[in-house]
Amino acid sequence: MTLDTLPSPAPSAPVFPPGFLWGTATAAYQIEGAAAEGGRTPSIWDTFSRTPGKVRNGDTGDIAADHYHRFRDDVALMADLGLSAYRFSLAWPRVVPGGSGPVNPEGLAFYDRLVDALLEKDITPVATLYHWDLPQELEDAGGWTERATAERFAEYAAAAARRLGDRVGMWTTLNEPWCSAFLGYGNGVHAPGRTDHGDALRAHHHLMLAHGLGTAALRAELPAAAQVSLVLNLAAVRAAGTTPADLDAARRIDGLANRIFLDPVFHGRYPEDVLADTAHLLDWDALVRDGDLAEISRPLDALGINYYTPTLVAAAEDGDAVRRTGPRGDNHAGELTPWPASEGVRFLPAPGTRTAMDWPVDADGLYEILTRLRDELPGTPLVVTENGAAYDDYTDPSGEVHDPERVAYLHAHLAAVARAAADGADVRGYFLWSLLDNFEWAYGYGKRFGIVHVDFASQRRTPKDSARWYAEVIRSGVLPED
Ligand code: FCB
Repeated sequence: MTLDTLPSPAPSAPVFPPGFLWGTATAAYQIEGAAAEGGRTPSIWDTFSRTPGKVRNGDTGDIAADHYHRFRDDVALMADLGLSAYRFSLAWPRVVPGGSGPVNPEGLAFYDRLVDALLEKDITPVATLYHWDLPQELEDAGGWTERATAERFAEYAAAAARRLGDRVGMWTTLNEPWCSAFLGYGNGVHAPGRTDHGDALRAHHHLMLAHGLGTAALRAELPAAAQVSLVLNLAAVRAAGTTPADLDAARRIDGLANRIFLDPVFHGRYPEDVLADTAHLLDWDALVRDGDLAEISRPLDALGINYYTPTLVAAAEDGDAVRRTGPRGDNHAGELTPWPASEGVRFLPAPGTRTAMDWPVDADGLYEILTRLRDELPGTPLVVTENGAAYDDYTDPSGEVHDPERVAYLHAHLAAVARAAADGADVRGYFLWSLLDNFEWAYGYGKRFGIVHVDFASQRRTPKDSARWYAEVIRSGVLPED
């Protein structure tokens, strides 16, 4: 399917409420480049990407999409698409080099210019404070397994809010702490590459504490109307069968993917079953101090959901070698699992067509998550803060990029959002991942998630068909009919 063959929107089917935020999302290390400019010091991703064997092809974020130098062009692209919002992250080691001590005026000045450029185009800036680029010095002092890292995070949050809070009204503390804790410290496929399930859970608690302390720090600096949120990659967990053992596998993974975040943040407690499942890995009572859960459960203005693919589990069969999961929950036999205490769990490939990440396409998972949150967290506004797909895109001889699979993916997922909203989920916005092709973590530049193609040799940007499709959805506020 090309753009020419796309049906035009049925104007009678408005599905998104007025004021719905239409955005794209990015993250600092994935697009900025300028890794050693403007006073920025190395983060754990600079170190990790330089460690042989950790990132495909030895790719690093040194240059990335060179957004640090090209942000004005990129904001112009966003304006051409008609975006009403843009979700980006601040690089902690730009703002507070080394992770503690004095703030770096040059680092903050970059975000100042970015925010002003967005506002000039009427694009609402949505700032994430932590999208995985921990200053290396903090990792050297123990990283997220140390409580002090949460305290440093709150200081950094305060500094950012003090400088940008007059113009940025929407803030997120952390992006996908599941990945930071379980991929960073559990199976080590993300920076800092540590592999200890007890450490993964310690990192998890300190990330939760950082969220709580960071929320308090933001509130203290920001005007009362500012919104503070957390972004989670909650999982649509499905059991492959109905045996008690299959259902128990689903319970375990639901606990480690969903309830270990939602319960402390929204109810001020950790789930009893997860504490029991993991008790042999760490002493929770020594880790969680009096007052921590009150700090973690401070009220939030919204919850961000990142969704890509569902999670299908079953009980490990007798004689099964323990099935391991790869970078994002996909199967890679032989790799260490990110999931603590999941020896009895087998991860199965969900049905459906696959993206270039080999992730099954299943938009119902997004509907399931949004309607679950409608039921479990009434009164909490929801935002889809990431959703999108990688495909093997290329510019054709006429210089165009045709990406019909991505258009189909986006169409199905936006329809799921609209259906959830029609069924009562309070969804306030959708941020497509991603604006630009970028550094896809352990996959390097090999996986293209952008709706704008980037030729990394020349840094030329080419909007793909999906960009034009998305612009038309934004303009009309309706989805084309299937
Ligand atoms: C999410 C990350 C984002 C990007 C997408 C594909 O887990 O938040 O940075 O890598 O996956």
